[in-house]
Amino acid sequence: MTQVRTVERVLRAYRTVEGAGVRLYRAFGSYEVPQFDPFLMLDDFRAQRPEDYLAGFPTHPHRGIETVTYMLHGSVEHKDSMGNAGSVNAGDVQWMSAGSGIIHSEMPKPSKGRMGGFQLWVNLPRSHKMMDPRYQEITRDQIPTVTPRKGVTIRVICGSVQGVKGPVRDIVADPEYLDVTLGPDAVFSHQVREGYTAFAYVISGEGTFDPKDGYQVNNRDLVLFGNGLSVRGLSSGRGFRFLFFSGKPIHEPVAWRGPIVMNTTEELQFAFREYEEGTFIKKGA
Ligand code: FE2
Repeated sequence: MTQVRTVERVLRAYRTVEGAGVRLYRAFGSYEVPQFDPFLMLDDFRAQRPEDYLAGFPTHPHRGIETVTYMLHGSVEHKDSMGNAGSVNAGDVQWMSAGSGIIHSEMPKPSKGRMGGFQLWVNLPRSHKMMDPRYQEITRDQIPTVTPRKGVTIRVICGSVQGVKGPVRDIVADPEYLDVTLGPDAVFSHQVREGYTAFAYVISGEGTFDPKDGYQVNNRDLVLFGNGLSVRGLSSGRGFRFLFFSGKPIHEPVAWRGPIVMNTTEELQFAFREYEEGTFIKKGA
């Protein structure tokens, strides 16, 4: 096995429509299972036109997964079946472990005419699909910024960089979630556990993750790494910004319909029947 992970695949985020008519870009989703295990989906809802997002994501359930919202601009107003209400503002992260079930709404709102962010879905293993729902709500100033070398700035949301730990803790998939900004001609070098899935999603600028062929990726390109012990990224002269993720694969069957992800079709049917019958919420109703 090589020390530095090579690029296994480059995917381009594709347009799709979600919620009540939100036009967004999906970096990967159900078509890519199980390549990104333990991750299920990454949506990019950076948008220019209010009509692309104001319809939002009205009341819907989740079970068996975690949804992670990271905002760059504007906010998402959130309200749920446990009586929680609040907003995820620019620079904030909401890591929601839906577990046995929550019913919520998520409504994007602009600030100074801008709105944009990302939602990652992380799978839960069979042993945790029915865990009690839990939130980790992290504000912008709780996320440490690390500068491991000149021209490299990393916001550590989850995981650790040079001994600095991100504020999101105790997640089953043992994930890392980093927001990496490289100045012109800077190098990102980061150790990743062997056997863990790792990928990067480019959000601005241009650069390469393959030291050998130098293939350049840019905004809305998704790079899935092969196995190895570390990853490397090199920015072009324009600088480079990307989100970096790693996590421990679950290796279990995935039964997925809309916002609910279980192990078997029977569990999925049972969950939707409970939702229709009003017995979906197990905790905090
Ligand atoms: Fe949701």
